[in-house]
Amino acid sequence: MITRREFAASALAFVGPASSDPDRPRYHFLPPANWMNDPNAPIWHDGRYHMFYQYNPKAAKWDTMHWGHATTTDLLHWEHLPIALAPTPGGPDKDGCFSGCMVMDQGKPVIVYTGVNPQVQCLATSNDWITWTKHPRNPVIAGPPPGVDSPGFRDPHVWRDGNEWLMLVGAGFRGVGGTALLYKSTNLVDWTYLKPFLRGAINPKAKGGDVSRGEMWECPDFFPVGDKWLFYVATEDKVKYWLGQWKDRTFTPQSEGVLTHGAGYAPKSSNASKGRRFIWAWLREQRGAAEQLKAGWSGSMSLAVVPSLAKDGTLLLDPAAEYDLIRGPKTADAAPLNDGTKLRIRLKQNQPFSLSRGGRELISYDPSTRLLTAGRSEAPAPAGELDLLVFLDGSVVEVFANRKVWLTGRVYGPIEPLRAYGAYRSLESWPVNP
Ligand code: FRU
Repeated sequence: MITRREFAASALAFVGPASSDPDRPRYHFLPPANWMNDPNAPIWHDGRYHMFYQYNPKAAKWDTMHWGHATTTDLLHWEHLPIALAPTPGGPDKDGCFSGCMVMDQGKPVIVYTGVNPQVQCLATSNDWITWTKHPRNPVIAGPPPGVDSPGFRDPHVWRDGNEWLMLVGAGFRGVGGTALLYKSTNLVDWTYLKPFLRGAINPKAKGGDVSRGEMWECPDFFPVGDKWLFYVATEDKVKYWLGQWKDRTFTPQSEGVLTHGAGYAPKSSNASKGRRFIWAWLREQRGAAEQLKAGWSGSMSLAVVPSLAKDGTLLLDPAAEYDLIRGPKTADAAPLNDGTKLRIRLKQNQPFSLSRGGRELISYDPSTRLLTAGRSEAPAPAGELDLLVFLDGSVVEVFANRKVWLTGRVYGPIEPLRAYGAYRSLESWPVNP
């Protein structure tokens, strides 16, 4: 924690939120009610983004997974559509439709997802994007390859490679570490196992289950960024990435890091307009189960984030330019800030800073530890003077630091005036357009 030196503290007026629940995000995506976790199969098709997501339609807690579905054309206004996938009694997904991806095959969308107990890979297709038909040959992969003793086998990621389809499935080598298993197919139905795509090691210091210890990798994703390829997985309570070369169906990592710090988990990428790629992450709640149930909703989607490469080949992460549209006229330093605000704060080297709302800290920077926080989430600050882009939306605090660190946290409570503490070079804010 930083020693708070009140400096240029801005007492800021407040314009009330539209929703009666101050914790509920307004321009981050979430279903009308109940539980959401991972983004599934996001895709841009015919000028429209489709978002599917892990969904429990019964309550604001994780249980019996369905696939919710919504679409948008502008990333800000979402249309909620009927549930796309529900467990089929007696079927390979009888206990839940877990995470997966989508590919277009001969003009038709194909969902590739995991059925559970045991974990197996399944297909579903649609002619109208509303009604989804499960493949008669499900499961198309009935379990891990012989000889692989894996704590889990889920979250398929499929892409086109020449004349074939390739698939990564999140898995692990029991007692050794997480992995993603690589498969190939010509028809999406018959799959041949090739090899482990990459292998990780169990973190000897970490406690908890197979995922928390790094024995199991969840939600692998893999796609080109600039002249490199980006691979990431959710494990050890965070999202690890590797940037590297992809040649002869072999991935050779050259650098690694944390893709999203804090509340963000299980991200999934999509194609996007203007030749871009988007990454979406589930923003976990950071309050107790009882409070989530009482609120009647749980989980938010992150903003769509565009990965690119810096000149030195390192990874840059920027919120999609579409979110510029949420801003009204810029308000100057120390002018009124309202809820749903986007801020740009340039800090001074070696000076502590924090921003709070009604006494609850939203973000902070401590130069002695070089830690950046968002609510109770933290991340090592990137090198150099900090240039922060901050999105506040109900309980969501989403921060992009120097385009290199993507940090999210949740801060609950009434929307009250913002106050800035510490030294900064500049603080600009844009209210949300009504
Ligand atoms: C990641 C995850 C996935 C799984 C899904 C179940 O958050 O555990 O591995 O498919 O959520 O909801």
